[in-house]
Amino acid sequence: MGGENRQGGLRLWRNARLVTMVEGAAGLGIVEKGAVAARDGLIVYAGAEADMPAPFGQGAETIDCEGRWITPGLIDCHTHLVYAGNRANEFEMRLAGATYEEVARAGGGIVSSVKSLRAASEDELVAQTLPRLDALIAEGVTTVEVKSGYGLDLDNEKKSLRAARRLDGERQVMIRTTCLAAHALPPEAKGDKDAFVDLVNETILPAVAAEKLADAVDGFCEGIAFSPEQVARVFDKAKALGLPVKLHADQLSNLHGAALAARYGALSADHLEYTDEEGAAAMAKAGTVATILPGAYYFIRETKKPPVDLFRRHGVKMAVATDSNPGTSPLTSLLLTMNMGATLFGLTVDECLAGITREAARALGMLDRTGTLEAGKSADLAIWDIERPAELVYRMGFNPLHARIWRGQ
Ligand code: NIG
Ligand code: FE
Repeated sequence: MGGENRQGGLRLWRNARLVTMVEGAAGLGIVEKGAVAARDGLIVYAGAEADMPAPFGQGAETIDCEGRWITPGLIDCHTHLVYAGNRANEFEMRLAGATYEEVARAGGGIVSSVKSLRAASEDELVAQTLPRLDALIAEGVTTVEVKSGYGLDLDNEKKSLRAARRLDGERQVMIRTTCLAAHALPPEAKGDKDAFVDLVNETILPAVAAEKLADAVDGFCEGIAFSPEQVARVFDKAKALGLPVKLHADQLSNLHGAALAARYGALSADHLEYTDEEGAAAMAKAGTVATILPGAYYFIRETKKPPVDLFRRHGVKMAVATDSNPGTSPLTSLLLTMNMGATLFGLTVDECLAGITREAARALGMLDRTGTLEAGKSADLAIWDIERPAELVYRMGFNPLHARIWRGQ
């Protein structure tokens, strides 16, 4: 059977146990004795095999899953995957006692990745990023968000986003790009943050929008980065350009970034270790997803935990992501990320699995296309050699993926 023929044809995964993640269903939306049918890259049926309409079984290329579990393809909704070199040297400085902020203020941190990225060609960036992307994909990831933010001038922000956009031509994966030009102050800005925000707003964002290089705009609201007022200016511009916003908020201190993000109807506010109740309430009201990033918490040995209980009480949806980046989270495993979310923050298995599927899709504004096993969504599946879903969260450094299906293939 030729690939072309197969793509248009009907495919059926039967004799499976499903984690559908359907909204409103109890827990994980589990279906024992389930089946998933797909045509033209889209799910046409997901549910009990016994209830499947007969036409989906007839003439389909059928895969017997032998009782294995199927989840939606995993989604890493917060990464800085495109970068050059690494910062193992700063890791050693921190092991010797320096804090992340001290390293940053001493000219290391994000700015050192800016130097490396500016020196790399677009081809080199793609080549250096692919092994990290492959590590994610090997665990069943089918959608990855990728931020810029190590370029910090027009040409290098565009280069980063172009490199990110090229990744889905290199691998079978959906890439969403986010322009994080307001990530740090580059050396040539000579300490003038307001003037740099002018450059972001007047030059970088309009060009990125015109060339359709970004699906969203992000910022870093922090003492070592940009003030709430400066972030608000960037968000005003993003809104004017028709781009949704996200925010690195309350990671190292409480500048009320969560509430700021909510005020702008942000898709997500991310990190949130220092977020207070007012911030959580504002996020709930705005439908802004809380993206929990345990890798960064762990790696910089933060001790303040994100207020998971407040998010639960206020009904804030929680996503979980790697934050894969060279400085605070050199992590390329969503499975390990879930274990950290559970072990460090007390997330439940259901919250972890929702956080890397349905809620991650919501954090990207893509819930209509992916994140659950439902008719009409992309046929992105992960098939697992496990006895129960908790194993995906429980193990460390073990990959029980049996097969990854991307758009039905
Ligand atoms: O998500 N918080 C800001 N940005 C990244 C860190 C980037 C870096 O240190 O290179 C983060 O933690
Ligand atoms: Fe980040």
